[in-house]
Amino acid sequence: MPNRPPQPPITVEMNDLVLPAYTNRYNALFGGKLMEMIDKAAAMCAIRYCHEHVVTASVEAIDFHTPIKANFLVHICAKTIYVGRSSMMIKVIVWSENPNNGERTHCCTSFVTMVAIDTKGKPQPVPPLRVTTPQEQQDWKTAEHIRQAALDRRSREKQYENSSR
Ligand SMILES: CC(C)(COP(=O)(O)OP(=O)(O)OC[C@H]1O[C@@H](n2cnc3c(N)ncnc32)[C@H](O)[C@@H]1OP(=O)(O)O)[C@@H](O)C(=O)NCCC(=O)NCCS
Repeated sequence: MPNRPPQPPITVEMNDLVLPAYTNRYNALFGGKLMEMIDKAAAMCAIRYCHEHVVTASVEAIDFHTPIKANFLVHICAKTIYVGRSSMMIKVIVWSENPNNGERTHCCTSFVTMVAIDTKGKPQPVPPLRVTTPQEQQDWKTAEHIRQAALDRRSREKQYENSSR
């Protein structure tokens, strides 16, 4: 595919309702269900950015700060913050929303790396990201730190696997 021109960041917003079937015994949303929502929002954001098929390559650590109660709303905002050759880092912010007054509480922030692939599962180039505002520049720097830390972690894990064979 010919080189494509730089694209502005894409933002995807997703809303859901915490049905009782998705809650644990403490009447709060299962962590795994929230991770599914995060993955889905990140995938939609990446697909809208590059218009290719994408797979999840990695999700950086997620800290759940507050539980999301049954019958509360989940509001998710996903944004492309960094783009490599075939990978896109998506920042996903999750809020729980009180249905009685619309008050939102930050629940967690996650960084998901999606990779564009062709029909054989081979990584595909994506358009460069056009970064203009100070916030976008800050997000890009944050993503570079996260990417480097993940590369270091993977290299340590590889060394450990090789040494424990
Ligand atoms: C992600 C995947 C396509 C990468 O393929 P690969 O042959 O290792 O490709 P490369 O080493 O050339 O890496 C391609 C890009 O992915 C990035 N990447 C690869 N593994 C990564 C990881 N674990 N975390 C973050 N980024 C990763 C590379 O940095 C590279 O980015 P760039 O093109 O922007 O520089 C491949 O490992 C894969 O298909 N994984 C399974 C994905 C999947 O099934 N997800 C759902 C799990 S149920």
